[in-house]
Amino acid sequence: MLDSTTVQRPSTVAGLFAGIGGLELGLSRAGFEAELLCEWWEPAQAVLKHQFPDVPLHGDIQDLKHLPDVDVVTAGFPCTDLSQAGRTAGIHGEASGLVKHLFELLAEASPTWVVIENVRNMLVLDRGTAMEYLVTEFERLGYRWAYRLVDSRFTGVPQRRQRVIMVASRTHDPRTVLFADDAGEPGVEHYRDDAYGFYWTEGRTGLGWAQDALPTLKGGSSLGIPSPPALWVRDAPTGRAIVTPDLTDAETLQGFPANWTAPAQAFGRSGTRWKLVGNAVTVGVAQWLGKRLRTPGSPIDMVCGILPKGDRWPTAAWGDADQRWSVDASMWPERQPYRHLLESVDLAKAVPLSLRATAGFYGRLEVSRLRYDESFGLAVKRHAEWMASPMAEAVPRR
Ligand SMILES: C[S@@+](CC[C@H](N)C(=O)[O-])C[C@H]1O[C@@H](n2cnc3c(N)ncnc32)[C@H](O)[C@@H]1O
Repeated sequence: MLDSTTVQRPSTVAGLFAGIGGLELGLSRAGFEAELLCEWWEPAQAVLKHQFPDVPLHGDIQDLKHLPDVDVVTAGFPCTDLSQAGRTAGIHGEASGLVKHLFELLAEASPTWVVIENVRNMLVLDRGTAMEYLVTEFERLGYRWAYRLVDSRFTGVPQRRQRVIMVASRTHDPRTVLFADDAGEPGVEHYRDDAYGFYWTEGRTGLGWAQDALPTLKGGSSLGIPSPPALWVRDAPTGRAIVTPDLTDAETLQGFPANWTAPAQAFGRSGTRWKLVGNAVTVGVAQWLGKRLRTPGSPIDMVCGILPKGDRWPTAAWGDADQRWSVDASMWPERQPYRHLLESVDLAKAVPLSLRATAGFYGRLEVSRLRYDESFGLAVKRHAEWMASPMAEAVPRR
């Protein structure tokens, strides 16, 4: 009988595809200790070695023979083939397909919990093939599973980032972790109207528009390189109104201390650090998860419905080999105190968006059918004119 009161308290973790350790840092804040990290990319390894100096670090997951005896195994496996910004080859693509090694390792291991994290697009890509693969693998191994789409803003950071968190266990009920909290999405009064985030690399089919927040920080972009989103500071003077945040602000918008990725600086261009930060799990999300893994709660009464095999994947669900259920859970399990965008971005360090980037963005915006705030369009236009003027010569460039 599964019962939240008999849940053994997990306290050790093995972090696969550890990146810069967003999951592991959050879990450590909830009382976990990492016993193994697995990550093969050198810049990420440099960060992990510096930030988790006492934890054994393994390179390529393809050569990892077994998992240590831990309570939790985490796997934020590569999203390269699943995300809209990536190649969309799917769950059997070269990078995302590496998740199969997680299941091979689990066949010989008995963690209490397994945690997977990935992009929202995984729910819909290839009509849900990736999700079907993941749940079928868990079910084949005798795991009960649950997943929930969550928005990082619930942790108080002004970054709209929607990610699927999946929790599975052979012995426990994952609903006691993922569905024990629901604060519901807040209304507009939660946000200020003095700054807006957007993706200057877009502008044709979308903007990534976010009020009082930045859109998702990404490991890659439609231009192929990781690039920061921009923000429009509504009342700033022309020349300072369309800016990109500093990398250290991006780190804190992901819940890390500023300069967490500094050990990767030796690997060259700042694009590498942006990519590391964009790939990471928001630390506060992992901390909430860690709190619930240590102290599961009672699943709250949410509307559930039978989820037939082959149906669209909803934003939250749970199941096992016998039955699957959709769950009407919001993306906001909690509502932690919100740090507004202008409290989170240091405008003195923010750099005006370059003339080239602004002009390109404005050109796309003008020919697009997108609806956007007229004063925003005007601010972008004025910014492009200002950046073309001699006044812009003294402006710092990135
Ligand atoms: C989405 S990121 C994970 C981010 C991580 N959860 C964090 O919070 O920083 C996926 C990671 O898998 C790593 N990876 C890709 N192939 C790998 C392999 N063969 N072995 C180990 N790690 C690999 C990538 O370098 C990348 O850092």
